Amino acid sequence: MIGSFGSVAALLRQDAPDTPVHLLRPHRLAAAARAFVAGFPGDVLFAVKCNAHPLVLKTLRAEGVRHFDVASPMEIGRVAEAVPDGIMFYHHPAKTPAQIRLARESGVRHYAVDCIPELEKVKAHGGADAVPMVRLAIPKGSGAVYDLSTKFGAPPDLFGAVLRRAAELGLRPGVTFHVGSQCLDPEAFRLGIRMAAECLDRAGIAVALMDIGGGFPAYYRSTGAPPLERYFQVIDEARREWAAPRGIRLLCEPGRGLAAEGGSLLARVILRKDDAVYLNDGIFGGLTEVYWGKDDLSLPYRVVTPEGGPRGGPVRPFTAYGPTCDGNDVLPYRLELPAEVADGDYLEFNLIGAYGREMAARYNGMTSEAVAVIEADFAGHNGIEG
Ligand SMILES: Cc1ncc(COP(=O)(O)O)c(C=O)c1O
Repeated sequence: MIGSFGSVAALLRQDAPDTPVHLLRPHRLAAAARAFVAGFPGDVLFAVKCNAHPLVLKTLRAEGVRHFDVASPMEIGRVAEAVPDGIMFYHHPAKTPAQIRLARESGVRHYAVDCIPELEKVKAHGGADAVPMVRLAIPKGSGAVYDLSTKFGAPPDLFGAVLRRAAELGLRPGVTFHVGSQCLDPEAFRLGIRMAAECLDRAGIAVALMDIGGGFPAYYRSTGAPPLERYFQVIDEARREWAAPRGIRLLCEPGRGLAAEGGSLLARVILRKDDAVYLNDGIFGGLTEVYWGKDDLSLPYRVVTPEGGPRGGPVRPFTAYGPTCDGNDVLPYRLELPAEVADGDYLEFNLIGAYGREMAARYNGMTSEAVAVIEADFAGHNGIEG
């Protein structure tokens, strides 16, 4: 941690970082957590994979997020250390026996499964009170940018068979699904809840918990998603119709929707060449997700001079290359930058609090590990810092 600063300008007055810095805005994380805790009709788990920084975990806990979706021993360790009273759900549907035993020793009781062999593993290694959360595959439809039901999730017939086998094994299963990440249509959640309830009815198995996953959007430049409140409203309607009559409690496990606004990335212009800039971070670093999401995840950004002020003036399109030797290390869209952008300037990309630092690799020995806290909001697209 480099330190805590009132603004990016204050950081730059103290330091002129030549390597990328991830900026955390705990006040934005806290606001997102308050919105979920107050608005979601059930328990909110944080999907730790999108940002496992201890300050993020502690900030969310302080605002009432006590449950965490973890997917590896590393994430279990991070939560156990940062939030000793955190309740973890091991929601990776493919685990080794040793990972399940480690989770159990760390107090985990809930484990995602999407097939009978994984269920039997949980039965064998997860302890007598293990709760298998059977994952249903949900058609992506038009709602989401990423489909999260191609790799994991049981189709309806198998879902029913896994639930029945869980009951035979003397386990009390729950249900989980994921409508896909960056889901732009709240109705996808209604369809998911309804589909899960209908599949449960067909299987003849009662459950107490339904985890409706993540998928809540971040508001990228290109995103026309409705406000979060609309998602909560649709989910509550579906809860009343399909979950409450069956005695089912809802949970959700947002990553992006909770954390994206809580972080930005400060990258530096290493070299300006005509209508191209070479940055010290790129798609093998903190901007990995931009490569996959392309225009659907177009980040807000601004240009800052080495003195910390906004670089103004007329803008024009620039190609933005990352620092590595790989020709693929280029942003998938052009940036509108001030024509006067120069070596040593900084670009601040917002909405990097989810899937930014966590996805960064170390290719060419280039990392983006440094973190600083910033108290001011992100200043907007080429705007003035507030
Ligand atoms: C099981 C599970 N839960 C939650 C999430 C978080 O999803 P999102 O960031 O879309 O909210 C993911 C993302 O991959 C996931 O795989």
